[in-house]
Amino acid sequence: MTQAKAEFQEELAAKGIRGILAESDLLKISRSVGCCDVYCHRLPCGVACLIKTYLDRPLWVRRLFGRRSLKNEFKRLVDFERFGIRVPKPYALLDADTLVEEFLENVVRLRDTRDYDDTTRPGREFFVELISMVRKMHASGLVHGDLRRANIMIQADGNPCMVDVATSIHLKERSWWGKRMLFNAFRNSDLFSLARIVMSFYPDLIDDDLNRAIEQAPWYLRLGRFFRQEIYRPLRGKRRKPERKSC
Ligand SMILES: Nc1ncnc2c1ncn2[C@@H]1O[C@H](COP(=O)(O)OP(=O)(O)O)[C@@H](O)[C@H]1O
Ligand SMILES: [Mg+2]
Repeated sequence: MTQAKAEFQEELAAKGIRGILAESDLLKISRSVGCCDVYCHRLPCGVACLIKTYLDRPLWVRRLFGRRSLKNEFKRLVDFERFGIRVPKPYALLDADTLVEEFLENVVRLRDTRDYDDTTRPGREFFVELISMVRKMHASGLVHGDLRRANIMIQADGNPCMVDVATSIHLKERSWWGKRMLFNAFRNSDLFSLARIVMSFYPDLIDDDLNRAIEQAPWYLRLGRFFRQEIYRPLRGKRRKPERKSC
């Protein structure tokens, strides 16, 4: 990995970040002004890295939101790694607007249960591991805050890996009450999302704790769901997803 980092620095010195981006694959172009673009860049040694950048966003977005978000993501990736919770390895926060991290090879994102059949559906072990991963994360004082299928990857060995920890919070002993409140809100949100995902695949894995998370879904999550399904999706011309019995 040291070789990869050295090669990246060499390329950076020779081509600059724009030059590197020009030679990278665009994985996800931002669909809104507040989001970053995501690239994959392969180094001569064969190692690939993921580049998240706000370089093409207006200065006010970068100042107000982008830089904080990337800085937080970088720090939290370091925390996750320290606590032994599988997320991409943090490589560098380049300029304030660009984050470089490990590109996860041979992973696929977790999809909706309807996208699988009996032969392709992830096994129970995947979800057992995912539940224990989320619990370990919370016990370590970390929350994800944006836990959804798009941010959960299935690795080649069948184990889960979380990505996109830009909204994550690390609660410390001396954290002030506002941060504690946000931590609790995000913790509930993580558990609610986790419970709904697991419920849609293997309802028998739902224990009392996860059941409570579904039954006592906080008002802000219900409100968020309402906005997403009744306002945002129709406005963007997307069809409302039909309700599922199990989820
Ligand atoms: N480290 C990574 N390795 C491989 N693919 C990744 C990695 N991080 C993110 N992705 C893929 O890129 C997509 C967008 O990245 P993400 O960090 O979630 O950005 P956004 O904030 O735009 O959601 C993810 O849904 C995932 O499919
Ligand atoms: Mg994401």
